[in-house]
Amino acid sequence: MQLITISHLKQIVQHTGLDHFLRQNLADLEAAFGRWNDFHKSPRHATHYPQGVIELMPCADDNFYSFKYVNGHPKNTAQGQLSIIALGMLADASNGFPLMLSEMTLLTAIRTATTTALGAKYLARPNSRHLAMIGTGAQAEFQLQAIRQVLPIERVSFFDTDPEAMKKFSRNMDGLVDLQPCQSIEQAIADSDMIITATAARQHNRLLKPGMIDPGCHIHAMGGDCPGKTELDPALLAECKVVVEYLPQSLAEGEIQLAKQTPVYAELWELVNGSKPGRQDSRELTLFDSVGFALEDFVILQLVYRLARNLGIGEEVELVPSPVDPKDLYRVLVSP
Ligand SMILES: NC(=O)c1ccc[n+]([C@@H]2O[C@H](COP(=O)([O-])OP(=O)(O)OC[C@H]3O[C@@H](n4cnc5c(N)ncnc54)[C@H](O)[C@@H]3O)[C@@H](O)[C@H]2O)c1
Repeated sequence: MQLITISHLKQIVQHTGLDHFLRQNLADLEAAFGRWNDFHKSPRHATHYPQGVIELMPCADDNFYSFKYVNGHPKNTAQGQLSIIALGMLADASNGFPLMLSEMTLLTAIRTATTTALGAKYLARPNSRHLAMIGTGAQAEFQLQAIRQVLPIERVSFFDTDPEAMKKFSRNMDGLVDLQPCQSIEQAIADSDMIITATAARQHNRLLKPGMIDPGCHIHAMGGDCPGKTELDPALLAECKVVVEYLPQSLAEGEIQLAKQTPVYAELWELVNGSKPGRQDSRELTLFDSVGFALEDFVILQLVYRLARNLGIGEEVELVPSPVDPKDLYRVLVSP
């Protein structure tokens, strides 16, 4: 079985080039959402604690099975720890044998960002140049890098309640686009074509409210991804064309948990396979109420598995016994 550590993943991405890796992931993601009915799907299994959540996210088709272990502990950063860490596994569905165990904290950030980009491809105005980002924590740079693959972003205005997080974002993204640090959400979103909300707080926030958003804007709300954890005023949803990943999960975890009476226009796959149009005019307000779905993990694990094999990167580890006689498991333990 292959083990992919952070160091291996860095080698893979640096060899491939970040832009190319993002574009490949995006293409794979689009293809996978386009064959939605091939997948065995279920809402993730969440164990809630007062301080956060730990989730298991399985997804499979007839050939491969994957799952991710991931947490969400918004207060971790105050202790100097990431709020989200993850591990992922890919297995061969024909015999159930694990193929790869991988780091998935970085992969989660990447696949979350390419999911944002995929949604924006169908829901944002194609000439969107001004992106507003609310929350510039661990996910922020990945989001911008992926969005740039589908939209001609020239300007990013951003706000975070933590000035240090804003400085870090400026440092990392220096020279990429025109960066405008802002003093408030209102200032950051003024005249924006697209808004990403990526804040972490275990409460119902109202960062964006009706009347605040310019016509034609696309909102990507990704920080509200758990019961009791939302970012938008629920009244705003009624003004938007709302798209989700997988309705049974989103109803419990997304912004729509507070606006269940609001019609959901589509699941993302319906836009991708052309059964429903995405954005239909330049004044429409669109909202991708994204919570993160296991198919996104499945797709990026497969990409990493493929690249790791092609590039000869990764480490073969013995995590599954291979006895000479498959009925003699005991011998594996007691043999010298
Ligand atoms: N939808 C998905 O697939 C998906 C995937 C990954 C993460 N997430 C969610 O995205 C959010 C961000 O993740 P992260 O890893 O960047 O977290 P993080 O803790 O690294 O960063 C969150 C940032 O939000 C800022 N913030 C909190 N409240 C704010 C407010 N009211 N206004 C402005 N800024 C505020 C914090 O200061 C912090 O810098 C989390 O809620 C996480 O659960 C969703």
